[in-house]
Amino acid sequence: MPRQNISLNSVWLYKDNFKEEYINSFYDDSDFITVNLPHANKEVPYNYFDEKSYQFVSCYRKKFTVGMENKDKLLFIDFEGVMTYARVFCNGLYVGEHKGGYTPFSVDITSCVNFEEENVIAVMVDSTEREDIPPFGYVIDYLTFGGIYREVSLRIVDKVHISNVFAKTLRVLKEEKKVLAEVYINNTSKAHGGFKLNAYLSEGERVLAEKQELFSLRYGINCKFEIQLDCIKEAKLWDIDSPNLYDFKVSIECCSGYDDSFAVRIGFREAIVTEGGFYLNGRRLKIRGLNRHQSYPYVGYAMPARAQRNDADILKYDLNLNTVRTSHYPQSRHFLDRCDEIGLLVFEEIPGWQHIGNEEWKAVACENVREMIKRDWNHPSIFLWGVRINESGDNHDFYTKTNAIAHELDDTRQTGGVRCIERSELLEDVYTMNDFIHRGEEIVLRDQKHVTGLDKHVPYMVTEFNGHIYPTKRFDNEERLIEQALRHFRVNNKAALENNISGAIGWCAFDYNTHFDFGSGDRICYHGVMDMFRIHKFVAFMYKSQVSPDKEVILEPLTLWSRGERNIGMIVPQVICTNCEAVELYVEGKLLGKYYPDKENFAGLEYPPVFIHEIPGDWGVSWGEAEFKGYINGKEVISKKFCRNPVPKLITAEADDLTLSSGDMDATRIVYKIVDKAGNILPYINEPVEFEISGPGEIIGPKITAFIGGCIAVWIRTMGEKGDIKLKARSSRLEAEELTFMVI
Ligand code: GAL
Repeated sequence: MPRQNISLNSVWLYKDNFKEEYINSFYDDSDFITVNLPHANKEVPYNYFDEKSYQFVSCYRKKFTVGMENKDKLLFIDFEGVMTYARVFCNGLYVGEHKGGYTPFSVDITSCVNFEEENVIAVMVDSTEREDIPPFGYVIDYLTFGGIYREVSLRIVDKVHISNVFAKTLRVLKEEKKVLAEVYINNTSKAHGGFKLNAYLSEGERVLAEKQELFSLRYGINCKFEIQLDCIKEAKLWDIDSPNLYDFKVSIECCSGYDDSFAVRIGFREAIVTEGGFYLNGRRLKIRGLNRHQSYPYVGYAMPARAQRNDADILKYDLNLNTVRTSHYPQSRHFLDRCDEIGLLVFEEIPGWQHIGNEEWKAVACENVREMIKRDWNHPSIFLWGVRINESGDNHDFYTKTNAIAHELDDTRQTGGVRCIERSELLEDVYTMNDFIHRGEEIVLRDQKHVTGLDKHVPYMVTEFNGHIYPTKRFDNEERLIEQALRHFRVNNKAALENNISGAIGWCAFDYNTHFDFGSGDRICYHGVMDMFRIHKFVAFMYKSQVSPDKEVILEPLTLWSRGERNIGMIVPQVICTNCEAVELYVEGKLLGKYYPDKENFAGLEYPPVFIHEIPGDWGVSWGEAEFKGYINGKEVISKKFCRNPVPKLITAEADDLTLSSGDMDATRIVYKIVDKAGNILPYINEPVEFEISGPGEIIGPKITAFIGGCIAVWIRTMGEKGDIKLKARSSRLEAEELTFMVI
């Protein structure tokens, strides 16, 4: 019988403390509350909360039955992510533990399961910042939250089964490509003799290559067998603009009757960082990326697949990036799957932040390297493994080991190790450096050889810039918002002009909750290109504008168009993020001038910003309406107006999705903006807003909140039932259109 993967995400019982008796299957848990996964052990306010509030030990219980037909099988519970330490019991018996909140683990419950009867899994979840587990032991600039915050499933397999497959794509730039698969087999039965290993490469229904080979079974866990598919002629490359993916499936048939199959998704691509830059499939590509923390308002890390996937879409399609760094830990498989599907390159790294702990701690970090790579080695989007604790000092033995583990498990990818200290020891393949040198003045990035202290160029990439050097809130003064954008423009421009810099990954995509030691004192680091709700700051338009106008025409003047916003009543320079060839500015219908992209100062960028340095008109005269018009090939292709007297006209409501699933928990985001008649956000409105929801869904976070700088977003989640969810937002002055979501 084929393996079964049964979702265990719905209907867990949860208690915000832990007592030994909770592990007992007959424990009266009637005072536990019912929750679904992903789950945050504590929902927190948007800001100004005590991070200790989620750092406690809790208990989760799950009841399930297993049919008698499985009595000769092996049964595992697979946990995708539990923050931070888990101790698991099945029917009162200890079955395993795991240290570390970002990597998956499995427990074998075969010997404790009662067939055709109720079974109880009890998990003791310790979400405190334990010193023996990375990233803890000192301070860190982000919150890690708590709970069983990723999915859980029951896996039922034969006693001979496949435990993992690493399908390496070889000769990818040749006409005839290959797949060399490492197939890991567990055999805990008495079976021996021959078994048949089948491998198929397919695209949908179409099989592109296949092979069968006979092997002899060995007793043991993770016994490695290799099978190779040659002469693959029809596979297309995986690239950022054409992320072709293929299904690779292996199956085993043993003479003793056991069988199993295992499917992964792969892509054919060659990605190398060289001393002369980054090459994808032999083509030079400048890396342009941002760092992503996986946190969201109120529930921290506990967001289901759709929200994770949507973040990847924002980075790729809204911000037009080609790369993301999963700072500072392995992130949701849903996020990575989406990166594969849309062609977003990923630099993934182990958990940690500046601090290296004792030997026990380092052993967990080494295990994190193994767990990360074994979980993610088939993702074509991942091109680099980060095997150094972010921004830690040198530690020769430790990092020699993490590099060796990575290379031994995966000889197809390079390693990096993010540092901020100049001249630190290069044990990795790529020198990955956080370069925060740019302070708004002339120096934009450091010289590579100066940083490395080496006398030759090495593969080199900038992995953070800006961040704490210039924290900026979405509702900050216009000048500050513009300066944040210009700093990102300058660094990307400089990185593009330097052949020995593969590119730059900025700090960071989204604002994030952090400890009191960091951020603005309200538990938020306002370093994002977008806020915590994934709503644009001006700098987001800088990234957005770097796309061919064939895909989307962008014209985003970075202005509130008001006379008294800046010092001394200045309204210049006007900075316009655009991919148009020229921009005209009209005030009160009168043409003031035609302006062109600043190719001189931003020669490295495909679409430099347009600056307007002079606008006639004095303080003390009546203010006027503005219109910016964008031109391509002499034709007007886009225009954007700004009111002279902005007043609220409407609350716009934009949902990421209108159809949700009633199966495992699903969630989507709705962005509300108070706009004027020209459709521009009124960024200084902070008035209350109330959400009204009906049907099989609930609001994540408070139902009454406030517009923050003219906007707010809310996520709604499903509750396992079908039907229509209706959502309405109302402020004291205006009401948004009611939205209907179909839960199917
Ligand atoms: C870096 C660090 C990041 C973040 C950033 C803020 O030093 O790696 O995690 O704290 O600074 O700019």
